[in-house]
Amino acid sequence: MNRKLALGLVGVVALSLAAFVVADDKDKKEEGGRGVDVEAIMKKNHGKKGGLIPQIADLVKNDKIGDALPQAKQAATLAAGLVKYQPKKGDKKTWADLAKEYADSTKDLATSVEKKDVDGAKSALSAINGSCKACHEAFTNRKK
Ligand code: HEC
Repeated sequence: MNRKLALGLVGVVALSLAAFVVADDKDKKEEGGRGVDVEAIMKKNHGKKGGLIPQIADLVKNDKIGDALPQAKQAATLAAGLVKYQPKKGDKKTWADLAKEYADSTKDLATSVEKKDVDGAKSALSAINGSCKACHEAFTNRKK
């Protein structure tokens, strides 16, 4: 092999290694999932302080469903974002199914709130609250 060709090959290998390292770093920042930050969505929808879903549940319980629309719309938009995520570990199809269920229930909640349908909102809330465990068991170390 001539010297120039050998040097060229070394260069190509070094370049592709560099590209690999950069791609890996970017991947980490995006949580491996097309820019979806699952943790941030969970905190906004379910955080102990000011989570949107507990806020909506309180308003519905206290006969104030009419005040819950902005929160319900925001929660539904956030939930819809989860569908695009692709988990690094675990089954992608399971994620797609569970995320869609969660997004659909959250959308039902927003629709019920918009119609001021208290029973509909309560049943959507119980579907949402029943969805946590299966997804956390499959994709996190959380116990519930
Ligand atoms: C479609 C899957 C899915 C559903 C449904 C789901 N979660 Fe999560 N949740 C996750 C994943 C994945 C994480 C871990 C995120 C991370 O740390 O990167 C998480 C993390 C969390 C966290 C921790 C966030 C933090 O502070 O680090 C809370 C709180 C949480 N979920 C609450 C809930 C509640 C309450 C429900 C049901 C009402 C729920 N989640 C439903 C997937 C889901």
